[in-house]
Amino acid sequence: KYQNLAMTPPMGWNSWNKFASNVDEDMIKQMADAMVTTGMKDAGYTYINIDDCWHGDRDAQGFIHPDPKRFPNGMKALADYVHGKGLKLGIYSDAGSQTCGGRPGSRGYEFQDAMTYASWGIDYLKYDWCNTEGLKAEGAYKTITAGLKRAGRPIVLSICEWGTDEPWKWGQNVGHLWRTTGDIYNCFDCIKDHGSWKAWGVMQILDKQDGLRHYAGPGHWNDPDMLEIGNGALTPGEDRAHFTMWAMLAAPLIAGNDLRNMSKETTEVLTNKEVISVNQDKLGIQGFKVTAEDGLEIWAKPLQGGDWAIVFLNRSTTAKKIDYDWATQKVYDDINKLDASFKSTAYTIKNLWDKKDKGTATTKKAFKAELPAHDVIALRLTKTN
Ligand code: DGJ
Repeated sequence: KYQNLAMTPPMGWNSWNKFASNVDEDMIKQMADAMVTTGMKDAGYTYINIDDCWHGDRDAQGFIHPDPKRFPNGMKALADYVHGKGLKLGIYSDAGSQTCGGRPGSRGYEFQDAMTYASWGIDYLKYDWCNTEGLKAEGAYKTITAGLKRAGRPIVLSICEWGTDEPWKWGQNVGHLWRTTGDIYNCFDCIKDHGSWKAWGVMQILDKQDGLRHYAGPGHWNDPDMLEIGNGALTPGEDRAHFTMWAMLAAPLIAGNDLRNMSKETTEVLTNKEVISVNQDKLGIQGFKVTAEDGLEIWAKPLQGGDWAIVFLNRSTTAKKIDYDWATQKVYDDINKLDASFKSTAYTIKNLWDKKDKGTATTKKAFKAELPAHDVIALRLTKTN
């Protein structure tokens, strides 16, 4: 929990999923503007994160500079602009000799780079893992942590190690979040084979989180990679499912789309405050899968005040009928193991994606609904007494 940062999962935007190496200061400024005008900032998003390929060269003293064509006014001016909007600026580097995109990495320059970022006013560092020949992950990440501490500015550290070296086992006091997998791929249920590496669809990433939940908590989160909502491949139901499951995982909510021209549907998904409050719940307890049967999963997440988030996820390609008797079904027994008062408590139920629902249903009656393929129903259970 160092520096008391990221006490709830970080929320923001990152350039990579949509723009890859195509970053420049105008675009980053426009993204900061859009973060405010779209309501994303009001919904809780804070970080504007530049990913790979912002870099120019190191100078004779070893100081790193941004690409002068893409960032002619420099990073300090950009940070001032972003801060002026009430937002925070994130940057990207790599533990190895070069970034994945072939720009200068921080290996051998960790303390100097950390000082540079702090002097620019950077608030968040994503630290990648390409070209790290011979390095041990835990040690390499501890070096940049030490550099950031010495630089003295509160900077969130996002460990981007892809899960190979089980960063959940050592990341807690090293960074604030750690990637648990390789890159997300913009599809709901598929694997993209790039030859030497694979990228994973939303459901594939979800399955890779099994067994990791107890490593996460306030100040140290599992990171199942950034969001693909609004990037054109997912249906509206799949967008909802992606966002809801990341909320249930207490995952960082880092949008990866073009905020400057979002559809109404995309904006509504990314700014659903009730789903966001499940994600941002102060307890910081990652949700868990209660049952999985025939493509229908039920997930639960404990929330503050004795509330629960319950999600029905339909991974199958056909609609499902939900007729859920709270008194007899497995979710009831499983939750009761964690919360002994669950069985004796009546909860009101609010459907977090249904704008008309006033939250007057209760767990005394069965919950009935039609759940389309590749979609979710997200409920918040609130104690009535
Ligand atoms: C690999 C990371 O996993 C991605 O999120 C992105 O940062 C690219 N590297 C950038 O090269």
